[in-house]
Amino acid sequence: MAWVCYYRCMNGEKLVITGGNPLRGEVRVGGAKNSALKLMAAGLLTPEECVIHNVPQITDVEIMAEVLRHLGVEVAWEEGTMRVRAGDFKGREAPYHLVRRMRASIVVLGPLVARFGEAKVAIPGGCNIGSRKIDMHLRGLAEMGAEISTEHGYVYARASRLRGRHIVLDFPSVGATENLMMAALGAEGTTVIENAAREPEIQDLAAFLVSMGAEIRGAGTPILEVEGGAELHGVEHTVIGDRIEAGTFAVAAAVTGGDVAITGFRPEHLALPLEKMRAVGVEVEEDEEGEAVRVRGGRKYRGVDVATLPFPGFPTDMQPQIMVLLSLAEGTSVVTENVFESRFMFVDELNRMGCDITIEGHHAIVRGGRRLSGTEVCATDLRAGAALVLAGLAAEGETQVLDIHHIDRGYQKLEEKLSKLGAEIRRVGDD
Ligand code: UD1
Repeated sequence: MAWVCYYRCMNGEKLVITGGNPLRGEVRVGGAKNSALKLMAAGLLTPEECVIHNVPQITDVEIMAEVLRHLGVEVAWEEGTMRVRAGDFKGREAPYHLVRRMRASIVVLGPLVARFGEAKVAIPGGCNIGSRKIDMHLRGLAEMGAEISTEHGYVYARASRLRGRHIVLDFPSVGATENLMMAALGAEGTTVIENAAREPEIQDLAAFLVSMGAEIRGAGTPILEVEGGAELHGVEHTVIGDRIEAGTFAVAAAVTGGDVAITGFRPEHLALPLEKMRAVGVEVEEDEEGEAVRVRGGRKYRGVDVATLPFPGFPTDMQPQIMVLLSLAEGTSVVTENVFESRFMFVDELNRMGCDITIEGHHAIVRGGRRLSGTEVCATDLRAGAALVLAGLAAEGETQVLDIHHIDRGYQKLEEKLSKLGAEIRRVGDD
């Protein structure tokens, strides 16, 4: 494992941060990555053009555009607006060289089966936060009548006719809920998905599908009802703001003792992380319209316990970032990861910067009151990379974050936005 990290850390650009500047000003977050990717895939459901606004300029979106183009779909993307036209295209396959770069590509499976009755999608491998299975996606499709086989690393799904079913998920998986919701649109009759994921991005996808002509009830609740068979048409839609990007800036303001207004998202989508930050001693004020927050760092923070859970629980995608804040707070905090099996790989890197975090099973024991100091660290995944940047902003001296291609997957112009808030941060090339 050490070799893998060493090898990966030798490549690409890095972010160089000199810590200690309190961040001040206003920052606007982009469209939600986890919504935009799914709306793009939903474009497969109709031959008409779908126009999607507020699409973030990040690598994951580029990869999804490549997946769609590989299928034969027309994709045009200009200044945050994406046009997807899945007219008369022949491709039914999402190949491994694209799926392995982004696991979320699996979300084309449901729409392809719904519209054409067949799909071939590479089985996504594991990643640095766990094995990330797709059994619930496949079981749900099989329950609707699709014939599923896995051969040579690919899932083949075929269905001359999908039938609406009552599907109970073992866990409210975001991806399985999305794939099954879209597959159900091609089924005869009603599909009920029980124990469905309730994330705001699921609600955004449901709103998109409803605008296309679908009948979907219960989005945002654990029971989703989808009527199959409706003729779907083109749509124009604006992606919701990225709550995880917003949360990352909120922690950035807190760990630097700054004062930052964060706009372009709905604070209600980030309710629990903001509540935890208040409990730590950070001042968090929501605007009356519910479209922005102002985050003011305090002098003294106290530790709190955090347990990740599906929405409306504490998002696992904010777990690495909150760990940095808790490292600065007085006392010991326990962070429990309940969503992914091994989402603590970055902890060794944080400890190299002066954090004192030990892992016991799926708990992290965070001993706080630490003073962080800059060094070279390696991003192991997207949110881990964000946490290392946050640690760098709070640390004394210079931090170099390597392997930042992980960060580019999900943050548009992170260093530019942080610089505008007063951070000393720059991207430097591979030398
Ligand atoms: C999505 C998000 C990711 C977020 C996660 C949880 C996207 C592109 N990604 O990922 O940022 O961290 O939700 O909020 O939207 N599982 C199974 N079998 C399945 C499906 C999932 O065991 O068939 C397990 C996974 O291994 C994981 C857990 O369920 O441990 C949650 O996964 P899921 O909610 O499906 O996450 P993703 O959709 O992959």
